[in-house]
Amino acid sequence: MIDKPRGTRDFLPEQMEKRKRLEQRMRAVFECYGYEEVATPTIEHLDLFTLKSGEGIIEETYSFEDKAGRKLALRPELTAPVMRMYVASLQMEAKPLKLYYFGNCFRYDRPQKGRYREFWQFGCELIGTERPEGIAELIALAYEVLKESGLRHLILRIGNLDILRRFLDGIGARDAEIMRLIDKKDFDELRNRMAEKDFDEFMKFISIKNLDDIPYEEARDMKEMLSFLEELSVPYNIDLSIARGLDYYIGTVFEIDAPKLGAEKQLCGGGTYNLVPLLGGKKIPTSGFAIGFDRALVALEAEGYAFEESAKPVYVAPMQDMVSEALRVAKTLRKNGIKTDIDLMGRNMKKSLDYADRRGMNTVVIVAPDEWQKGNVVVKDMQKGEQHEVARGDLPSFLKKFHS
Ligand code: HAM
Repeated sequence: MIDKPRGTRDFLPEQMEKRKRLEQRMRAVFECYGYEEVATPTIEHLDLFTLKSGEGIIEETYSFEDKAGRKLALRPELTAPVMRMYVASLQMEAKPLKLYYFGNCFRYDRPQKGRYREFWQFGCELIGTERPEGIAELIALAYEVLKESGLRHLILRIGNLDILRRFLDGIGARDAEIMRLIDKKDFDELRNRMAEKDFDEFMKFISIKNLDDIPYEEARDMKEMLSFLEELSVPYNIDLSIARGLDYYIGTVFEIDAPKLGAEKQLCGGGTYNLVPLLGGKKIPTSGFAIGFDRALVALEAEGYAFEESAKPVYVAPMQDMVSEALRVAKTLRKNGIKTDIDLMGRNMKKSLDYADRRGMNTVVIVAPDEWQKGNVVVKDMQKGEQHEVARGDLPSFLKKFHS
């Protein structure tokens, strides 16, 4: 037996049903905010991700050489690919451009619950504006997508990298390693790396909750953006310790957590960033976020969310020698938009009904010779044990009322 690669998953019908429901809900919210869906390849040139995504991402990227010796990578995220696509094909479009995506990503992470080597992201990119109302709408969308998924406990934290970097410059402590440690919230190691006085100041700085306490002008812009978020009734916390793992961020950054989950509680991350000029495009403000789809599902399950089950099909069971007639019945029902299954195993009626029962199919249409002669079929309700003889021509409308 060959097992699946470490950190990847199979999705059985029951899980796929939940995933599909969640996907539909999330998609609807993005579209409700005027975003249009795009898709990019699963593989990209490795260079696309090494440009500015940061060391962490490079270590975690699945990369390989193809048969012609090109260095390729399975995408670890979708922001760089979408920006590549924007530079190649969409620069002339009217702004702002609102693009969303749903796709699988690959990271060579240490697998655990909520952390996989193949996982799915729902995300979006807002291109062409850095106005506070634009960023506020983006953050509101991230929050709304998760809320509309059915999650009750969410914590939105908002920070600003310009402010954090200015502060770190001020104490002479800004470098890539410090930023990485801040992102990982590894305060023990940060204490080792900073002078004691600087570390104390840093801890004081990241506990700031009132933007009036920050002397930089970026704090004023942030305040305006937050006032719009309040207008949109989105609850938030100020968290100046957000560093984000990817190097391309500038300005506003935000994360949304499911507090009930353990280490892998971060459901969403995003902010404003600068990638387009690096990819050869004309400088333009960009921002976006991505939601860990699998984590959102884990969070819903942890909250005991009851997923709606989809309706089971009507089951058509022919008596002996009535297969052709049964196929005709199934065809008519399907043409009428009724989800229909039919015996494909040549089972006798008892076994057919057992099968319908095991699969949870409550409505069975029995195609029997005597009733057929009269132009009828028999509709059986498995739970109630009731049977109705119904004219074949009336069957679709009868079932639409009966089978719901
Ligand atoms: P990110 O924070 O690296 O941001 O990933 C976004 C979300 O993907 C995380 O918050 C998490 O929920 C989920 N995620 C990340 N790694 C894994 C994993 N191994 N298994 C399961 N879920 C995972 C980005 O990727 C940026 N491109 C977001 C963005 C869009 N920024 C601007 N635009």
